[in-house]
Amino acid sequence: MSPPVNSIPAPSAGVTVGSLLRGNDLPRLERTLLLAHVLNVNRESVLAHPETGLSQEVVEQFSSLLRRRLAGEPIAYLVGSREFYGLNLRITPDVLIPRPATELLVEAALRRLPESSPSRVLDLGTGSGAVAIAIAKYRPHLQIDALDVADAAVALAAANARMLSVSNVRFYRSNWYSTCAERFYDVIVSNPPYISAADPHLSEGDLRFEPRMALTPGADGLAAIRSIVAGAASRLAPGGWLLFEHGYDQAERCRDLMAEAGFVAIATLRDLAGIERVCEGWIPVGSVKADF
Ligand SMILES: C[S@@+](CC[C@H](N)C(=O)[O-])C[C@H]1O[C@@H](n2cnc3c(N)ncnc32)[C@H](O)[C@@H]1O
Repeated sequence: MSPPVNSIPAPSAGVTVGSLLRGNDLPRLERTLLLAHVLNVNRESVLAHPETGLSQEVVEQFSSLLRRRLAGEPIAYLVGSREFYGLNLRITPDVLIPRPATELLVEAALRRLPESSPSRVLDLGTGSGAVAIAIAKYRPHLQIDALDVADAAVALAAANARMLSVSNVRFYRSNWYSTCAERFYDVIVSNPPYISAADPHLSEGDLRFEPRMALTPGADGLAAIRSIVAGAASRLAPGGWLLFEHGYDQAERCRDLMAEAGFVAIATLRDLAGIERVCEGWIPVGSVKADF
């Protein structure tokens, strides 16, 4: 799709911050984020000085980003960052863009983790590191392992942790539990790929640009969740919790999978939109099956 011609200001003398923020093709917030990125300042600075004149180079860079945004590229990939749980994470097209709904998974995990005593946590499919790093920031005494099957995701997540001065997370490559570092964890969390292969949303909006492997495990969308639930009981310490995010219509099937695997106190948590989003349950003492 080519953008409306009049949406892109011609680079010329007299172009100000305020003039670039006007236009009904994109929400003002998005124009502000793009311009803040080009100017390497925060949003507030952009909004505070609408009269500032801009160089031709800045106008050209902004116009180029605007064109790409109007063609559908996600804003997080264009500006290279996204805020998650109050943390500013570096984001590239190698990883899923962290979603606000996933903050529920972090909150639920924090409820299951002690404030001070040591515990071991595993984050499966860490992507940008969003979930692991958010937990690590709020529980600096915990030891967290975070894995992903994609090398580029592991590298980016580790870079995000360094950038945010988080030192209690180990990142490594693994196909789910295949190279698990620890024998037992107290909490396992995951936001796995869970969209079914036939879901038309995969070819709409931001999803078109995100790694397919981060979005769908194929077929009915439950393959990753099946692997995660089936392997969790033998990696959780007695009394340990498994919490994972799932699709809007998968809650009942997730609870069934958890029950079949021996979990108890199985519950579904709803996100801020009221949608069933996170499944949790714990493994009672004596039900740990050794499959090592
Ligand atoms: C939905 S994304 C979640 C990313 C991040 N946790 C978040 O919430 O923003 C799912 C992640 O699982 C990873 N993944 C997919 N298949 C995997 C597998 N077999 N083993 C480990 N990670 C896998 C993907 O690479 C992707 O980073």
